[in-house]
Amino acid sequence: MLFVAGGIGLAPLRSVINYVRANRQNYGTVDVVYGSRSKDDLVDYREILDEWCKEEGMNVHLTIDREQEGWNGHVGFVPNYVKELGFDTNKTAIICGPPIMIKFTLAGLIELGFDKTQVYTTMELKMKCGVGKCGRCNIGSKYVCKDGPVFRCDQLDEMPDEY
Ligand code: FES
Repeated sequence: MLFVAGGIGLAPLRSVINYVRANRQNYGTVDVVYGSRSKDDLVDYREILDEWCKEEGMNVHLTIDREQEGWNGHVGFVPNYVKELGFDTNKTAIICGPPIMIKFTLAGLIELGFDKTQVYTTMELKMKCGVGKCGRCNIGSKYVCKDGPVFRCDQLDEMPDEY
């Protein structure tokens, strides 16, 4: 599994990551690439350092957008870091974060050789009521709140370019 998160986008992925952590025997190596504007914006930073980073078979790659005093880790945007790290294309990737990050991360994964059927992302930013009533979340004939919000990237290709 490969999880890629930007900013608060780690929050929706956290439960999936914890599920995988709790069922490690069913998964191979797990990589998490997580970036934010600054060290202070990294969600659950302490838990990530104290728990995730210490688990066998779990590789956590943290990055922040700009240099910051007290930060010795990677500096740079998430999509570039994903390409820089490179990953086996036998992984399933799940991306969550700002739309621009999702767009460039997906492009990076394709460049690395991933197929769109291996990559999942979420479109919840389009949602308003969340229960199929307001009609504000549609992409073509799909209602993000009812048909998603998680979509495989090849499914997004079949939708109008409205997201
Ligand atoms: S968010 Fe209101 S209909 Fe989907």
